Amino acid sequence: MNNRRVIVKIPASTANLGPGFDTLGMALSLYAWIELSVSDKTEFRYYGDQMNGLPGDKSNLIYKVAQLVFDEAGVTVPELSVSMYSDIPLARGLGSSASAIVGALVAANSLIGNPLSENKLFQMATRLEGHPDNVGASLFGGIVVSAWDGEQADYVRIIPHEKLEALVAIPAFQLETEKARHALPSQISMADAVFNVGRSSLLVAALACGELGIIRHAMKDRLHQSYRAALIPGMATILERAEEHGALGAALSGAGPTLIAFVEAGSPDKADLERFLLDTLQREGIEAETLWLLPCVHGPQVTVEDKETQPAVPLMDRIKGDIKV
Ligand code: HSE
Repeated sequence: MNNRRVIVKIPASTANLGPGFDTLGMALSLYAWIELSVSDKTEFRYYGDQMNGLPGDKSNLIYKVAQLVFDEAGVTVPELSVSMYSDIPLARGLGSSASAIVGALVAANSLIGNPLSENKLFQMATRLEGHPDNVGASLFGGIVVSAWDGEQADYVRIIPHEKLEALVAIPAFQLETEKARHALPSQISMADAVFNVGRSSLLVAALACGELGIIRHAMKDRLHQSYRAALIPGMATILERAEEHGALGAALSGAGPTLIAFVEAGSPDKADLERFLLDTLQREGIEAETLWLLPCVHGPQVTVEDKETQPAVPLMDRIKGDIKV
């Protein structure tokens, strides 16, 4: 283990997909990278502006999550060298914290020879994140349907339809998940619960069977999106009208503020849909960036190197052909 260097590439994720609150997640083709090795002295190297301000000591999330893996496996690795770069914007509803947790779990486990099973990592990730949807998608890739009772998380993975594409509109402002969860009521009506059970079940069946035409009837929600609308100006209009602009369906991505719309590959409406999302947000005074993404069908990609025979390459040199900017 002392000679190992581990590099992990972890996908972003979108949670809920509309009705599947805390249950549905999809991995997306936007990534973070974590490099981990044993060191004489703990050190952190963060690349990219958005990492500014993250703790550079042992209170760091990556370090703490790695230590949980070592404790669970009964090994002691007090000093680590950590490098990280992420294309996943922070606090925008694209699973940046889930990707950091999953990346740290997978990298630390790999560093010590993978004693913990993938399912064990999923249980740990769900507990750390507080819900299984983002971490499940980042860990397993594809579409992940999961349920957690506070003790045990169960999941089934669905391979996304090969023609599914996603457009995300990422507002420039951040929205902490905790704030977006505080906007939710503590109770809902039986009618709304039945509405969401129906839509979420329909959506899972449509995604599993590749019935893309059903998505527009299924991506409807009464559990969380309307309560969060005040936090994301323009959201209500986008969710109501995205289908008129060629979307198969649209949703708030996770707790927001990012909005996600799905289209079928080759749709002639892609440019119109993108314009509609940007114009709607702009009319509300919200600056946003759009990205066309694909469902990511795999979980973290791990590279393990021998430090003695394979020279160290700075993380940014290693991934430069792969990053977004
Ligand atoms: N399911 C969670 C929520 C996702 O909507 O609050 C947060 O990332």
